[in-house]
Amino acid sequence: MLEVRNVSKQFKSGDHTIKPVNDVSFSLEQGTFAAILGKSGSGKSTLLSLLGALDKATSGDVMVDGVNVSTLPDGKLTAYRRNDIGFVFQQYNLVPNLTAKENVMLPMEFARVRRSERQARAAELLEQVELEADVHDRKANRLSGGQQQRVSIARALANNPKIILADEPTGNLDEQTGELIIELLRSLTRTQNTTVLVVTHDMALARKTDRRFRLAKGSLAEEFDRSRAR
Ligand SMILES: Nc1ncnc2c1ncn2[C@@H]1O[C@H](COP(=O)(O)OP(=O)(O)OP(=O)(O)O)[C@@H](O)[C@H]1O
Ligand SMILES: [Mg+2]
Repeated sequence: MLEVRNVSKQFKSGDHTIKPVNDVSFSLEQGTFAAILGKSGSGKSTLLSLLGALDKATSGDVMVDGVNVSTLPDGKLTAYRRNDIGFVFQQYNLVPNLTAKENVMLPMEFARVRRSERQARAAELLEQVELEADVHDRKANRLSGGQQQRVSIARALANNPKIILADEPTGNLDEQTGELIIELLRSLTRTQNTTVLVVTHDMALARKTDRRFRLAKGSLAEEFDRSRAR
């Protein structure tokens, strides 16, 4: 269970402060597929980074299975980021001079998975996201945007995280490849009971989620739509 309690984040810019996340509360049962929608600049990426403990909230708590992540000491916070969370960055954030496969192996290296196993799993994950076999050993900075996006998704899945936070995971993909990624994320919620929270503008993706939220002016509200596929 992911529980977000009264989380706010403010930034100081010059002499005024902005509050892209203002007193946000919600919770997701384990295994839920959820989406956050909202205009550009509405704070979606900021909120996701707070949930993934990539940044600290100004106030409020993020609880995962009853553990308050917001107050974890550094060592445990690193373990949380590495083991519990799979993060797909909006700008992919691959290590540019490592190959596609090496990028996917990296989180497993931190988790001390054996090299042979890392290689096998990385190849398998890259196949799952349908990255063309001939680019598995190409450096990340030589990959197209959509290829980098798929590597970034494969990397997020590497350590079987219980929560996947994905920022626009289909943003750079053609419709058919986007569909494949949506099905992959959806299947993880069913087979691994993974919680998947995506930020998206992709209505094809949003329609397939169990729950949908909209972020506007710092506030998060759930949207209910009876025609939504379940
Ligand atoms: N580190 C920072 N310092 C100052 N302001 C920031 C920082 N990070 C984000 N912001 C501001 O917070 C607001 C929300 O940004 P955020 O990136 O979360 O939006 P978003 O909803 O993800 O937008 P998009 O759909 O374009 O990706 C923006 O006004 C942005 O300029
Ligand atoms: Mg964003």
